[in-house]
Amino acid sequence: MSENHDLKNSEGRRLATVVSPSNIAFIKYWGARDLDHVVPENPSISMTLRTCHSRCSVEHLPVGDTHEVRWREGSGGFKVAPPSFADRVVAHLDRLRDHFGCGGAFRVATENSFPSAAGLASSASGFSALTLAVLGALGEDSDDATRSELARRSGSGSASRSVLGGYVQWPAEQGNYAEQLWDHDHWDLRDVIAVVESGHKEVSSLDGHRRARTSPYFETRLRELPGRLEAVRRALSERDFSALGPVIEAEAIDLHCVAMTSEPAIHYWKPATLTVLEAVRGLRRDGVEAWITMDAGANVHVICEPHSEADVVARLQGLNGVLEIIRDGVGAGPFTESEPLL
Ligand code: DP6
Repeated sequence: MSENHDLKNSEGRRLATVVSPSNIAFIKYWGARDLDHVVPENPSISMTLRTCHSRCSVEHLPVGDTHEVRWREGSGGFKVAPPSFADRVVAHLDRLRDHFGCGGAFRVATENSFPSAAGLASSASGFSALTLAVLGALGEDSDDATRSELARRSGSGSASRSVLGGYVQWPAEQGNYAEQLWDHDHWDLRDVIAVVESGHKEVSSLDGHRRARTSPYFETRLRELPGRLEAVRRALSERDFSALGPVIEAEAIDLHCVAMTSEPAIHYWKPATLTVLEAVRGLRRDGVEAWITMDAGANVHVICEPHSEADVVARLQGLNGVLEIIRDGVGAGPFTESEPLL
């Protein structure tokens, strides 16, 4: 992470601001061996994004013990965050305070550059930014593995990947933290996101992980995974888009098969999801190589190489039910900022 922020500002406050991107998984985390300790059933591989991000300022107050969590959604000022969001943040602040034995309380202000909780991995970017900003406010120097490990403990496994740029695997071979496979310069892949739903999704990823095992297709997907992980690593290594695309698309569809056949069933897709999927198949029929992937939500990430991006955007624009198109791509990871939100 680039260090360009003076921890104690001119007023002597212990304050840090971090921008952390979201990420999109090519091989998904869906189902856990131990959900309480965020131990996933299988390794996941993701691409860190550059446009979709969370910005978070944290101030450490040595006196007091009640944290303050504010957020900004859309235009307007920062407001006290609702309990559905603030409770997770406070739990993580308590966890980090215990970990560092620092006492006191934290003030937090956070915002996203994209719709929250709509399957665009706002927890990943949000908890990555929060964790790194707490580390910054406390003046804690840490390596990538520790940062990732601490972000994972928030309960958002995907946050462990967002602390790193480029192409990332979690867990690493050696431990339950994420490691970078290649940095963002390795391969310039693009992610054209078709937003078809901007509200909060009905079923959290947490509940999805909980229910995953109840699907008769859960074990089938697990059996596919060693081959898929190998195929994705090789395709990334060789920058072979024709090898990468079909695997990531099959993996995303399988995640949703498992979700739809869980007990109780989870249907994230909206009619416009299928409209986008069909449009992408149409692009391929016309010789434009683009493949989809999706998180736990209705929105569709269309992955392509730079020379295809304009065609993808043109095809998705104006489709029935597509509310917005976000042009994203592989990014370098989190960075600090000097302008605080608090
Ligand atoms: C479908 O438990 O990390 O995005 O806390 O909501 O970000 P959030 O979810 P998390 O599960 C991620 C589920 C996924 C797949 C993935 O990103 O690997």
